[in-house]
Amino acid sequence: MELHNKKIYPIEPWNITEDRFCMENNYRNETTFALSNGYIGTRGTFEEDYDFSVDEGLEGNFINGFYESEDIRYGEWNFGFPLKSQSLLNLPNGKPVKIYLDNELFDMRQGCLDFYQRTLNMKNGTVVRSVDWTSPKGKKIRLLFERMVSFADKNVMVQRLSLLLLNQDCEVRICSYIDADVENHTRKTNPLVDYGPFGKRITQNRCSASEELLYFEGKTKKSGLTAAFGVGHSCHGSMSFQSISAMQKDAYAELAWTYRGQRSEKLILDKFIICTSSLDMPEDSLAGFVEGKCRECTALGYDYFKEKQKDYMKAFWDIADVRIQGDEALQQGIRFNLFHIMQAAGRDGRTSLGAKGLSGEGYEGHYFWDTEMYVLPVFVYTAPKLAKKLLEYRYHTLDQARARAKVLGHETGALYPWRTINGEEASTYFPLGTAQYHINGDIAYAFQLYVDVTGDTQFLKEMGAEVLCETARVWADVGCFAESKGNKYCICAVTGPDEYNAIVDNNFYTNLMARENIRYALNALSRLKETEPEFYQEFVRRLSITDQETEYWKRIVENMYFPYDEKRKVYPLDDGFMMRKPWDDSKIPVEKRHLLYENYHPLFIYRQRMSKQADAILGMYLHSNLFTREELKRNYDFYQEVTLHHSSLSTCIFGILASEIGYHEEAYEYFSQSARMDLDDYHNNFYAGIHAANMAGTWLAIVNGFAGLRTNAGILQFNPFVPDGFEGYAFRINYRGSILEASMTKDQCTFTLISGEGIELSVNGKKIKLSEKEASCCEKI
Ligand code: BGC
Repeated sequence: MELHNKKIYPIEPWNITEDRFCMENNYRNETTFALSNGYIGTRGTFEEDYDFSVDEGLEGNFINGFYESEDIRYGEWNFGFPLKSQSLLNLPNGKPVKIYLDNELFDMRQGCLDFYQRTLNMKNGTVVRSVDWTSPKGKKIRLLFERMVSFADKNVMVQRLSLLLLNQDCEVRICSYIDADVENHTRKTNPLVDYGPFGKRITQNRCSASEELLYFEGKTKKSGLTAAFGVGHSCHGSMSFQSISAMQKDAYAELAWTYRGQRSEKLILDKFIICTSSLDMPEDSLAGFVEGKCRECTALGYDYFKEKQKDYMKAFWDIADVRIQGDEALQQGIRFNLFHIMQAAGRDGRTSLGAKGLSGEGYEGHYFWDTEMYVLPVFVYTAPKLAKKLLEYRYHTLDQARARAKVLGHETGALYPWRTINGEEASTYFPLGTAQYHINGDIAYAFQLYVDVTGDTQFLKEMGAEVLCETARVWADVGCFAESKGNKYCICAVTGPDEYNAIVDNNFYTNLMARENIRYALNALSRLKETEPEFYQEFVRRLSITDQETEYWKRIVENMYFPYDEKRKVYPLDDGFMMRKPWDDSKIPVEKRHLLYENYHPLFIYRQRMSKQADAILGMYLHSNLFTREELKRNYDFYQEVTLHHSSLSTCIFGILASEIGYHEEAYEYFSQSARMDLDDYHNNFYAGIHAANMAGTWLAIVNGFAGLRTNAGILQFNPFVPDGFEGYAFRINYRGSILEASMTKDQCTFTLISGEGIELSVNGKKIKLSEKEASCCEKI
């Protein structure tokens, strides 16, 4: 296993601090310091608005769900290939503030940077930069830049600049502006795509500047969406005011203040940046909304937002924080990961969470299965309201999934897209895209998990059951009972999660998730029939579900086929896996090993017996109650040998299974590979955005791995251990409205009911009841 010891930032429990400005690391740091509230996303770029090249940095401002499309160019087109792309669009930038001291422009690359420190404060939800700077002509200033993307109001981002003159009197001129002359960096951030939103994509509707408001509104060229941005200001301090001027030219709107300042005098500029779009309201309401919001925010003031931000973070950490004793670096890593996934999640039921969150343009901002299988389980246990919103997004795009199923030849049912923003399929290489039918089973799994853990049966009735039944229908249509396989139900020509084995027959993971998906649908129907008979009648009538259909589903559940290797007694990845050529890493030059698709034809890759990422192993972890420990061990050992972990979604899952089968050292090593993967940029691609799935996977590796939490047998089960690398760890989960704290030390585990009615759990197989009266229990490890 590769060991990574290089730490980029100082180890601190709640902060990520950059204590030196270094151009080389700029692009990467823009992702580290990216902020979001699930709606607005902004990269950690500087207020000075430097004209960095495409290799040095990317100014990035996004609205979740706001995309531009382009005609996809195929060399050879086939029926059913998506025609239109969707790319998260890089939007106008309202952050800039230029500072002039007697006409000398503040620029960290010139003069002398006497002090520099930038901190992501994860307790407050802010990024703060402190700078002491001496201009080329000797003027010394102290600057403090503070920034937050508000959790209290999704349309608002707030900035404060405090400027102090340290050694001389001078004229201070400050320019704040919106720059709408922006474009995506597609060729750098998504080099494999040969289409995309190249060049400027927004046609201006209105751009204006006044003392009250800087405003820009524009419409995308192809997707027809309109976005609107406004900036309101408040400028105050002890310096003496000289003048204010507003200016607008083309796609640029500016407001500038001139002050006369003496040594030790201070000036403060607060900015309230408002973003919205026609996805939320009719186009003709945008301007009124932005103006109103701007007025409201300037009246509320900077401190109001700062307080609200802190409150939000406190409530989040109260449940979600994981405390690790004895390893401060991993402690910092896990908090960084939790912070980023929390801020990336769409919260309006209309948007989801991209593989890169809203932190960059990587993967064109698309939502994948990463959300349901990695991130959502974390929220189900720690922030169920967020989890519900992400599921609502899938419910609201069910009609597109129904239409897609038809395109793929299924008369009924819904097939969710492999990658998307607006609910339609946007993957262009179908062997690694649309063929990943397992996305249906993944989404169904997430709905079921949410209902099981929260007990929210109302949601099952309102949205869940429909998604479960419609996804099940595609499974019932895609395969058949094959005589050559003893009349078992087989699913051919799909790709499992593993992207080095494509278009295979009977992918173990897919068949397992498909079977469980159908089982969930059947269970949901029986539950509704029993508890809501009237609703049930109406539901089956509306969806035309017949007894004949559900009987067929039952036959599939009872007769699902799984590939099995008698000699090794393992479940191969798929029917053909054991026939493939054994992989020999030594034949691949080191520099090409991690970039197989860039250096080898896909067919070369698909013919080898090896695997890019956790696949069958993931299915076994999710449904570990269906396998014996011996089986899990054999399969783990087998996949351990053939898996290359070339995806960031892999190591955390192996770590969880390693924990389960008692391979504690390996579990810890895998966890260490995941916990600081982004913070220390192991893959050298953090510049393009976070790896949300892996970030979430580190929480799973602790809670489902080390603590052994499972709910798949219908009860809350723990099987904890403390890895050698830690002294102990503690976390909280929300189970059916009760908050449970689990705290592990080397020799004992303590479970405490923090709030709620009571919880039944099983610790190392022993059943325990916690209630208000007996709120705590202690067990030996
Ligand atoms: C992985 C997929 C994942 C995607 C986005 C790919 O490299 O193989 O499983 O969904 O990245 O994170």
